[in-house]
Amino acid sequence: TSRVYPKLAIGEAAKLFAFNNGKKGPLYYKGFYHLFYQHNPLNPFFGDIMVWGHSVSQDLVNWIKLEPALSPSVPSDINSCWSGSTTILPEGKPVILYTGSDTNKHQVTVLAEPKDPSDPLLREWVKPKGNPVMVPPSNVPVDCFRDPTTAWQGHDGKWRALVGAKEKDSNKGMAILYHSDDFVQWTKFLVPLLESQVTGMWECVDFFPVAVTGKEGLDTSVNNSSVRHVLKASYGGNDCYVIGTYSSETDVFSADSEFTNTAEDLRYDYGNLFASKAFFDSAKNRRISWGWIMERDSNEDDIVKGWAGIMAIPREIWLEKSGKKLMQWPVEEINNLRAKNVSLDSKQLEGGSILEISGITASQADIEVAFDLPDLENDTEALDSEEVDQATIIDGYSASVKGFYGPFGLLALASNDLSEHTAIFFRVIRRGNGYAVLMCSDESKSSLRDNIEKATLGTSLDIDPRHEKISLRCLIDHSVIESYGGGGRSVITSRVYPKMAIGEEARLYVFNHGTKAVTMSSLEAWSMRKAQINSNET
Ligand code: FRU
Repeated sequence: TSRVYPKLAIGEAAKLFAFNNGKKGPLYYKGFYHLFYQHNPLNPFFGDIMVWGHSVSQDLVNWIKLEPALSPSVPSDINSCWSGSTTILPEGKPVILYTGSDTNKHQVTVLAEPKDPSDPLLREWVKPKGNPVMVPPSNVPVDCFRDPTTAWQGHDGKWRALVGAKEKDSNKGMAILYHSDDFVQWTKFLVPLLESQVTGMWECVDFFPVAVTGKEGLDTSVNNSSVRHVLKASYGGNDCYVIGTYSSETDVFSADSEFTNTAEDLRYDYGNLFASKAFFDSAKNRRISWGWIMERDSNEDDIVKGWAGIMAIPREIWLEKSGKKLMQWPVEEINNLRAKNVSLDSKQLEGGSILEISGITASQADIEVAFDLPDLENDTEALDSEEVDQATIIDGYSASVKGFYGPFGLLALASNDLSEHTAIFFRVIRRGNGYAVLMCSDESKSSLRDNIEKATLGTSLDIDPRHEKISLRCLIDHSVIESYGGGGRSVITSRVYPKMAIGEEARLYVFNHGTKAVTMSSLEAWSMRKAQINSNET
């Protein structure tokens, strides 16, 4: 074929993940980060026999591919090894709880242990006697019981773990709670730790503590008065979360809000990210969450590429000062790929202006830019409704809709004639006595190809533009644009497939399509080096 595909380079991980569905049990062990992922050895689609692919890294950026860690081999997992999580036991030994599709294609929880815990690469895993360790309860369909979490120890020393599920004949999603003394015998608790009537099946549930103050991450069993808990569930194509208080004495998790299955849910990402898993990195005392980015092109395209699905750049996560949401930021190691740098001084961007950022590789770049609206005037647009939800943003405010303050931001992966570009931008709107800052990633012009899903993605960014600059960091990697607004308050990931804006042909611009001037107070951009991905062992 003569078709040119935008390839990944920072995270060319894609190539090693022939089919990579979600992050399964990331782990830091004896100096290595381990990535386990859903892999179909036969073709680039979800298949009848899924295995746990396995790659290792010392810096979360450069990866070496190993042989699969788990493949179907016992009655409990003979039809597939699906998602699960890793837990490091107090004596330092890692174990895996994962979903087996058993002889009857029922979803069950299977325990695996490293054959040789002294091997830092944890190449071989064994499935001890006693499996499966959990089976679907009677109120749960046999195909709606999966993705056990990392386990944690309560005040009584007992282990706890959650399994994502759906209730029979209802739309109720739940996190079923299990208890164990020995990690082998698991007993279902009376009630789920959390449930929602409106979400349907919960996949890849995560449950972990976050510190009330500071960025430091916590190991999964930590619980005290300066800790809150996050429960993340994947449904409806999004990773949604709630924050709450958890007591292991009562095993009650009181969440501050409910899952609503609407755009009001708190999301890790307002774009393309699903089935993430978080882990505690004991090397740097941080919590890292890692999500999966799906393809938005066709199955035929996947066949040509030979793979489908990639991992996002791992993100450090912590609780925002207000305690109301999580902050996210690319792990610092990604900065090691920064090469040639361009920086611009403060500059007024008149309404309707566009400015090319040249001198870096626009197809593979890291950009940090900040905008200032010192004279924000009262005559800016007002929002009709109090609600600034995703639907409002998408319906009324795509990049082509001119406003007063905004749209302003970046045009990434733009072709020479601008017929292709992805606009990542802000718009400031008066709401009540204050202002709303909308953040969008508009994919509608991202490619001249037409067999591709192109969305206009957006969210409102929790910033008061009268007192704070509006900052944006974009990691551009050929077919992925990961955009962090407000220092990590909101993230939007876009998967795009330009036809012309490829490699050297791609351009990067700062723009202001609004009628009012805004100040670009700083801009720094770097060409990014290529990571070492899918390299065979040396
Ligand atoms: C998430 C998921 C999990 C399941 C796995 C199968 O996308 O559907 O629920 O275990 O992928 O690959």
